[in-house]
Amino acid sequence: MRIALTALTDELRRLKGAGVKTVNVSSDSVVALRSALVRLRDASAEPEPAKAEAASRRLMTGKEASGTGPREASPAQAPVLPPPRPAVVVEGRNKQERWDKLRDMVLNDPECRRHVRPGKKVVLGVGSLDARIMFVGEAPGGEEEIQGEPFVGPAGQLLTRMIQAMGLQRADVYIGNIMNWRPEMPVGADGVQYGNRPPSPEELAYCLPYLKAQIDIVAPEFLVALGATAAQALLGAGTFKALGEVRGRWKEFEGRPLMVTYHPSYILRNQSNKSKRMIWEDLLQVMDKAGIPASDRQRGYFLEK
Ligand code: URA
Repeated sequence: MRIALTALTDELRRLKGAGVKTVNVSSDSVVALRSALVRLRDASAEPEPAKAEAASRRLMTGKEASGTGPREASPAQAPVLPPPRPAVVVEGRNKQERWDKLRDMVLNDPECRRHVRPGKKVVLGVGSLDARIMFVGEAPGGEEEIQGEPFVGPAGQLLTRMIQAMGLQRADVYIGNIMNWRPEMPVGADGVQYGNRPPSPEELAYCLPYLKAQIDIVAPEFLVALGATAAQALLGAGTFKALGEVRGRWKEFEGRPLMVTYHPSYILRNQSNKSKRMIWEDLLQVMDKAGIPASDRQRGYFLEK
C-alpha cells in the first residue's frame, strides 16, 4: 500500500510540475484514500508483533479472527476515527489560569498527540487573553507544527500584515485554529509531509470544543472566520455551499458577532488587488463595528487597479 501511495504522490507531483492545477477525484476515491492513509499510519504506529497480528487480522473475516471460519479477504477497513469529544470545561481564578490549564489539556491530549509526528507539535491559539478580536483559521501547516504556534508560515505572515494594516499588532488580537494538529498526509521519501489536506468532519468535531474553550476564556467581542473550513465549523456543516454566500456578512457564533472572510492563503494564490480588496473590505467592517478608526488612506487600500 505504501508503494501505491508513493506512486500516486509521485504522479500528482509530476502532473503539478507539468502545470496541471486540478484533478477530478470521486468521493469514493477520497474515502478510500483517506482510509488507506489512516491504515498506513496506524500500522506504522503499531509495534512489530502487533503489526503482524493486525495484518493477519485484516486478511480474516470476523469469524476466522476468532478461529472458526474460512480465510478470506476482509472488506475495506474503516478508518480509525477520533473519538467524540465531550465539552471542555476549564475552571480557574482568572483567564490566565484557565488558559494555562487548557494548554496543558490540549498539549497532553492523547488523540492530539497521536496525530503529530515525532519532533512536531500540537498547536493551540496564541495572543492576548483580553483581545477584542479573535481570528479563527483552519489547521496548522508545516511551519506551525514545527513552531507550535498558529499562523507563522507564509499565510500567517500575511495575516500579521493584515492585522497591522488594521492599526493593530499581532499581540493585540487572539489567533486560533479549529484544529490542534496538522491533518496528516503521506510523507515523501525524505519523511517530510509536503502537502496539506482539509480536516475531516470527525477531526473538526474532535477539536472544536478546544476552540470553543478558547473563545470562552478570551471572550472576544468579535470573531473573524478565515476561510470556508473555519466558517463551516463555526456556522455548522452545510450552512453554505460556496464561501461567497457568507463572506463579508455578519453572522453569529454562540451570541458573538462573526465576520466571515477569505483565508489569507487565498490571497497568496490570487495576488490581485481585487482579491486583497475583498478581504480588506471585510476587515474594514470589523474595524467599524469595533470602533477602530480607519483613515481615508486605510479605507482606500487596494482600490487602485
Ligand atoms: N492556515 C491555517 O488555517 N492555520 C494556520 O495556523 C496556518 C495556516
